[in-house]
Amino acid sequence: MNIRQAVSPPKAGPLRGKEMSSLEIKHDVNIAIEEGKISYIGREYVEAYQYIDGSQLVVMPGFVDCHTHIPFVGSRSSEFIMRLSGKSYMDIMRAGGGIISTVKEVRKASATSILADSLSSLDSMLSLGVTTVEGKSGYGLDKENELKQLKVLRALDSIHPVDVVPTFLGAHAVTDEYGSPEEFLDLMAGIFDDLVELTDTIDIFCENGVFDEALSRQYLMKAQKKGFKVKLHADELSSSGGGRLAVELGAVSADHLISADNETLVLLAESETVATLLPGTSFFLNEPFAKGRKLIDLGAIVAIASDFNPGSCNIFNPFFIIFLAVSRCGLSVEEAINAYTANSAKALCLEKEKGMLEVGYDADMVLIRAEDYSEIVYNFSRDLVEGVIKNGNRVR
Ligand code: NIG
Ligand code: FE
Repeated sequence: MNIRQAVSPPKAGPLRGKEMSSLEIKHDVNIAIEEGKISYIGREYVEAYQYIDGSQLVVMPGFVDCHTHIPFVGSRSSEFIMRLSGKSYMDIMRAGGGIISTVKEVRKASATSILADSLSSLDSMLSLGVTTVEGKSGYGLDKENELKQLKVLRALDSIHPVDVVPTFLGAHAVTDEYGSPEEFLDLMAGIFDDLVELTDTIDIFCENGVFDEALSRQYLMKAQKKGFKVKLHADELSSSGGGRLAVELGAVSADHLISADNETLVLLAESETVATLLPGTSFFLNEPFAKGRKLIDLGAIVAIASDFNPGSCNIFNPFFIIFLAVSRCGLSVEEAINAYTANSAKALCLEKEKGMLEVGYDADMVLIRAEDYSEIVYNFSRDLVEGVIKNGNRVR
């Protein structure tokens, strides 16, 4: 009640181009919650059994992190140190480290130990105001372990207050037990029928030296034939045709885009595919940043997410990711907020229930100690979160 500033995207995702620069800001309003949904926003007094004094608070929709790699186990800090002495992410991957080292850990680990590690990551994310998290398989790379990861994602969703949205990323890397990328992708496509209860979305690491554009096309078309939505790790480390392919296939999102060429940016801007920026990865790998400003100026639907994973981005703090999006990708604060709420909800096809402060929407909110929403960028390193509300329950 008496909320100093209630800040919301002006409409449900997708917001594109210029629409992304506006926010709806209401002063001194009360927000009521019933059965986990927002039931009222306005100046009227509402009867309730519990009140929160909002007079010192900025209230925003909970952050929707539409790209992470939970669940995983293990640390890759030694690779981080190797990169400091000049090895690149791809050098380490080609030498059998990188994704494959996490695959070894995940294969050894029981579902319960993977679950326990991921619950603790979700606790930390929730305390920072992240109320919905996408997570991917992709550290199993065989049927048994890919399904193990997807089952852990389903368990996380039911155990933890955060909503967890699962994606199948069997096409993440190839281990040397397989003859060729083609053979491996056939094996992964052979699992599609077993995924129906576990996920509706299929992702691939489309990258020169991993799965090239032609292989990615074949694989994702098979997925679409089976009725799955598709998305791609696209143009992350080199310009590999992933962004273009995402548009061609009508993918829900094309993620990373650090190395996307101008033509690809234009194609994305003219499409319905969400362009998801992951600036934490650029920062963590010391790589260039995706051209966020250009994408928005061209009219794209831009989302931001963390890419939280043990190798390329060990970061999940949405305030820091927003700081990077603003200071390194050229977004305004308003654009970054829309990108981490309404548009990231759109990237998960949850735009009708998440990402806005609006009657009927899920009561997922972050309560921030600030006079104005813009402080979340300048003060990103302070703990500004006074409280988090998830489905109407105060969870911090
Ligand atoms: O988004 N590029 C592929 N996948 C992840 C990294 C995963 C890992 O290094 O474990 C990414 O950067
Ligand atoms: Fe990723």
